[in-house]
Amino acid sequence: MNTVGSPRYAPEWLALREDADVRARAEQLLDPLVGFLAGAAASGGLTVRDLGCGTGSMGRWLASRLPGPQSWFMYDRDPALLENIAARMPREAADGSPLEVIPQQRDITRLTGDDLAGTSLVTASALLDLLTADEMEALAAACAEAGCAVLLALSVEGRVEIGPADPLDEKFNAAFNAHQRRTDGGRRLLGPDAVDAATAAFERNGATVRTRPSPWRLGPDDRALTAQWLLGWVAAACAQEPSLEAASEDYLRRRLDACDAGELRAVVHHRDLLALPGDPAGTVPA
Ligand SMILES: C[S@@+](CC[C@H](N)C(=O)[O-])C[C@H]1O[C@@H](n2cnc3c(N)ncnc32)[C@H](O)[C@@H]1O
Repeated sequence: MNTVGSPRYAPEWLALREDADVRARAEQLLDPLVGFLAGAAASGGLTVRDLGCGTGSMGRWLASRLPGPQSWFMYDRDPALLENIAARMPREAADGSPLEVIPQQRDITRLTGDDLAGTSLVTASALLDLLTADEMEALAAACAEAGCAVLLALSVEGRVEIGPADPLDEKFNAAFNAHQRRTDGGRRLLGPDAVDAATAAFERNGATVRTRPSPWRLGPDDRALTAQWLLGWVAAACAQEPSLEAASEDYLRRRLDACDAGELRAVVHHRDLLALPGDPAGTVPA
């Protein structure tokens, strides 16, 4: 299993972000996805594979928006996150059809076309930045071989807007982005380049790709999430650029005080990507 240098994701963090994720998801991509899946949904049902599923946030959002019987294979390398995942999934599909949930500890960077045979939909959320360019290419090729739809949600784009603005915002963001692109155990992570790399990889493999923005919009009602996000963002920036350490304490204090007072707003830009095999007709509203 490919776990070299890989961070563990706390279930508390995944729970904290779930509401902001739900608000951010690009619902416009659902219509073309449902259209593509209609045939499979009507005949036998959907086989869905959720890569890097964590505690199942994507499935909780998506399963009840898709019609037809569904089998959800939920893959994560961290078995602790998979505990109780089935009990937390919706009971029914959009049309009341049954759902089956199959959690499996698995390294998703090793999935092949054979592993995906018979799959209707590959999905993932907040995962792509953790892949390398080669892993992305292999995933796109495996999906093309399987002829499945692919919905990859909430990939970071490397842009944040924090209000009120602070002169150090850009320095911390640049260092954070460099940290996301770091080489870890010999793997150079895509970080904020993931959506461009995925778009190119899926198009090279014959898919039609649509992307839509899916930003977190954080305000006074998101204090706990915003504070945790800021702490992680600044820590990663300092790990990448130790010269920022000296300024980080004051910067963080200013930001956390404003957050506490309900005065801080942040837009953390993400993008959702839908890749469908071939060149299907149909447009997605902007
Ligand atoms: C940022 S979390 C997102 C979790 C979940 N998709 C969500 O949206 O809440 C990334 C997840 O990917 C998993 N992951 C990262 N690399 C993986 C790999 N190579 N194989 C399997 N799981 C992986 C992590 O364990 C973690 O649960």
